[in-house]
Amino acid sequence: MYRTHHCGELRIEQVGQTVTLSGWVQKSRDKGFMMWTDLRDRYGITQLIFSEEKSDAALFELARSLGREFVIQVSGKVIERTSKNPNIPTGDIEIEVSELKVLNPAKLPPFTIEEDTDGGDDLRMKYRYLDLRRGSVQNNIIFRSQLSLEVRKYLSGEGFIEVETPNLIKSTPEGARDFIVPSRMNPGQFYALPQSPQTFKQILMISGLDKYFQIVKCFRDEDLRADRQPEFTQIDCEMSFVTQEDILNTFEGLTKHVFKTLKGIGLPDFPRMYYDDALRLYGSDKPDLRFGMQFTELNDLAKDKGFIVFDSAELVVGIVAEGQAEYTRKQIDQLTDWVKRPQIGARGLVYVKYNQDGSFKSSVGKFFDDEALKAWAEKMGAKPGDLMLILAGETDKTRKQLNELRLEMGRRMGLMKEGDFKPLWVLDFPLLEWDEEAERFHAMHHPFTSPKKEDIPRMLNGDFQTMKSLRADAYDLVINGAEIGGGSIRIHDRELQAKNFTLLGFTDEEAENQFGFLMGAFEYGAPPHGGIAFGFDRLCAVMNGQSSIRDFIAFPKNNQGRDMMIDAPAAVDKEQLDELKLDLQHIEEEIE
Ligand code: AMO
Repeated sequence: MYRTHHCGELRIEQVGQTVTLSGWVQKSRDKGFMMWTDLRDRYGITQLIFSEEKSDAALFELARSLGREFVIQVSGKVIERTSKNPNIPTGDIEIEVSELKVLNPAKLPPFTIEEDTDGGDDLRMKYRYLDLRRGSVQNNIIFRSQLSLEVRKYLSGEGFIEVETPNLIKSTPEGARDFIVPSRMNPGQFYALPQSPQTFKQILMISGLDKYFQIVKCFRDEDLRADRQPEFTQIDCEMSFVTQEDILNTFEGLTKHVFKTLKGIGLPDFPRMYYDDALRLYGSDKPDLRFGMQFTELNDLAKDKGFIVFDSAELVVGIVAEGQAEYTRKQIDQLTDWVKRPQIGARGLVYVKYNQDGSFKSSVGKFFDDEALKAWAEKMGAKPGDLMLILAGETDKTRKQLNELRLEMGRRMGLMKEGDFKPLWVLDFPLLEWDEEAERFHAMHHPFTSPKKEDIPRMLNGDFQTMKSLRADAYDLVINGAEIGGGSIRIHDRELQAKNFTLLGFTDEEAENQFGFLMGAFEYGAPPHGGIAFGFDRLCAVMNGQSSIRDFIAFPKNNQGRDMMIDAPAAVDKEQLDELKLDLQHIEEEIE
């Protein structure tokens, strides 16, 4: 028997018992005549004690030879500690070791296996097995397992059934590039890995499955960031005979359930905001509502007063940083440099300090007297002691820049509080997005998204400008500024789907080639349906107050899309390539 207990289990009640434990050596403190070793496993840490006086000489010698991360087995008596450690659950006891066996020695790890490790990202990924020994990373992986269990419990309870969909498929357009897999049996032809199970879940609705879900891997070849991995997991769902309201209620219920069961937090009903309002008030379709600082548009007060920057701008818009009128000249200059960085791209920053004595100090005093600035303050809801920050320029760009500034001020002012969760539904996204460069429309969500019912006649008959203004029956769930999920009511009618493909620049032939199976299925009794997918990795991270999803994935990839541990992607043998007939001639023949 390797162990009678695990390393997080023993308490004062077990004093006097003889126990056997197995685990890894975390660290040792050697006082010469006395030695303490922390023994670690998934469950915790237990202190071992060896003494020259009480231990057998050979055992004491062996104990002193133990290095970090050695795998050992010990037996001994549980005794009460003279100096207790209230920070760990086993802190009242220690084990007086009478037997020690080294199960496997270990090389010195390349970084310390502690909460604050000294290992850089790539090193930790290369030795992911060592990184996964760290308590915080292990807790994330355990959390992930619990979250998937709770999701399955909740959705099963709501009558959803889990159906697996294939991974070797044809391209699904979710807006990223596909990962492609060559087919040996069909030379010159390729599968694509799914960017999502979108078309399959719609087919399942046509099959009458009614409520589908799947915790599923998706693959997208896109630029990577802290919240994006090339393979990630979705909680993917679809429902028949539903309206937007049904879907929002079901998934609000799911979100509340997982917050309650896993974090002990009861979330109140989620507010809802139209996409247009989110952009107008926060400059973002995923506003962080942990703090206010809403935008105020100032065109009517700021334009045509002789200040060229404002006069030539499409939009003059500002935020109020509460209680920040004390900002020094240096701090303002710093902030100005910050918004002028290429990543933000503002041309400048206008500030107005509303001093405690009711006077104003601003960078535009030449053009606006105190009375004019008082009118700004009133419109923006600023009080004495506040700092107003204003940007001007083209509407879309200026809103984006002010969104960044708002978030930065939120960070500087400590307004993004840990443990505070502010979910939000964003509704009625535009159906189509005009791409200036490519001179074509893209689907803002995906091509299967339905326009709002009242917009259908305009979609079927409208002109170019009308198309830009069509709204979709599409919604996102945002928590603390992170897009957690997105979905829509779908088109279930062949004609409307064909029209959408035409608007998106597909010829009839291309649409038929790529999505003929779905449009064909629509002709055999497709029920009205809709759905949503949550980013499972993102939900894990946000629920734990983190912005990076990497540490919630057991084996993540780095920003270059590499798995540092197995060193993938990698070249393959020539024979393997020959077998796949990956030669241009075969591929070209197929394309023809
Ligand atoms: P969408 O493309 O919005 O919708 O994706 C749903 C959610 O998946 C997460 N997500 C990602 N997470 C990590 N890494 C990535 N590269 C990544 N890309 C997306 C986000 C996002 O909100 N088929 C539709 C859903 C539907 O219409 O039902 C879809 O995939 O949290």
